[in-house]
Amino acid sequence: MRTIITGGTVVNATGRAHADVVVDGEVITAVTAPGLITEADRTIDATGKYVIPGGIDAHTHMEMPFGGTFSHDTFATGTEAAAWGGTTTIIDFAVQARGTSLLATLDKWHAKADGDCAVDYGFHMIISEVDDGSLKEMRPCIDAGVNSFKMFMAYPGVFYSTDGDILRAMRRATETGSMIMMHAENGIAIDQLVAQALAEGRTAPVEHGLTRPPELEGEATSRAIALAGVTGAPLYIVHLSARHALEAVAAARNTGQNVFAETCPQYLYLSIEDMAKPGFEGAKYVASPPLRTRDHQADLWRGLRTNDLSVVSTDHCPFCFEDQKVLGRDDFSKIPNGMPGVEHRMDLLHQGVVAGEITLERWVEISSTTPARMFGLAGRKGTISPGADADVVVYDPAATQTISALTHHMNVDYSAYEGMEITGRVDVVLSRGSVVIADGAFHGKPGHGRFLKRDLSQYLL
Ligand code: URP
Ligand code: ZN
Ligand code: ZN
Ligand code: ZN
Repeated sequence: MRTIITGGTVVNATGRAHADVVVDGEVITAVTAPGLITEADRTIDATGKYVIPGGIDAHTHMEMPFGGTFSHDTFATGTEAAAWGGTTTIIDFAVQARGTSLLATLDKWHAKADGDCAVDYGFHMIISEVDDGSLKEMRPCIDAGVNSFKMFMAYPGVFYSTDGDILRAMRRATETGSMIMMHAENGIAIDQLVAQALAEGRTAPVEHGLTRPPELEGEATSRAIALAGVTGAPLYIVHLSARHALEAVAAARNTGQNVFAETCPQYLYLSIEDMAKPGFEGAKYVASPPLRTRDHQADLWRGLRTNDLSVVSTDHCPFCFEDQKVLGRDDFSKIPNGMPGVEHRMDLLHQGVVAGEITLERWVEISSTTPARMFGLAGRKGTISPGADADVVVYDPAATQTISALTHHMNVDYSAYEGMEITGRVDVVLSRGSVVIADGAFHGKPGHGRFLKRDLSQYLL
């Protein structure tokens, strides 16, 4: 089966060109001068449109247990929504429950996802319990294609690890050539602020933000960087939201330390004002770290330009307003943490191109090429070039759309971006050569998506 995508502007992280893209089976076999190859089983006209590598969302939570409930997208619904938004790979998090092993956790997440995903997927592993057993199991996890391990400085009593635990896991990451991902917020101090707020009768959603100040994200980020420096482990700060944390990352990078960070669209476009909406509306925006004051946003955009922020992922973790967020109606600390977004990342970041914050190439780089390289998918994903998987998005930069829960495909009853006008729209999506989105319809199927065994060994010195 040969597909040719003709007449478009091919955009890679390295540049753009008018070119045709030839796909044979599941793989891109040529990027040629326009019109050079014409014989094909299927021709897709991309005139006036961008042809970009499918997005890679390196941070999602489908069917994630949290606060006595589960994030509302399954791997089937969440990966279909991803496809609608031009994301053809997700990397989700397997979550070690205390008292269980990493390998049993991995089996459990395979059981949830295998046979259900519409696009390709991989896993990171969340380590909730650092002991000899889980440290030893990091190696077989890596052999099974999971080479990035998330730890938490937040959520004492649930996912929280002490500095000692973190140090031990980082040492093991150095030994095994794997990566530690860090949720960097000072959870011990935050719990005191939360207890104080509740004791004073401050229970509204906005208190979630006020009790998790940016200073405590900055402090935890600095501490994680120090621990990584001592152990030599590469460190990836997830969902960075605050200038304070960005300054710590930039300073470490300036010394040459292997520290990287991602931010998320919600921190670029939404703010603590959303969490302060009247009634209980603010619960829709409760996630950790929390949305910040608007003045952080310009710093985050600058970080994306300077590469102190290398990746934008969504931290997609959808909880329905009506029957899940409501668990915290009388106590903000019981609102399940997380926001939906997997469907809108490419569109939202394209607004940064339209506004002149980032270039077209940088759009592709932060949403696809860098996450591929950083998480062991380089060559296969994140590029329109011969030999790469044919994960291709035809993106119409002139189309317009309005984001709404009425039209989105995520399995959640609200949109954090309700009513937002977007310039640009996904037109056609190929996942390993198969059309999954075209003519405003989903043509994929659950089970098309394959598990990606990721491999970082190519980067080891
Ligand atoms: O509030 C959030 N971000 N929920 C998802 C879990 C996490 O910490 O990434
Ligand atoms: Zn987190
Ligand atoms: Zn997350
Ligand atoms: Zn529901």
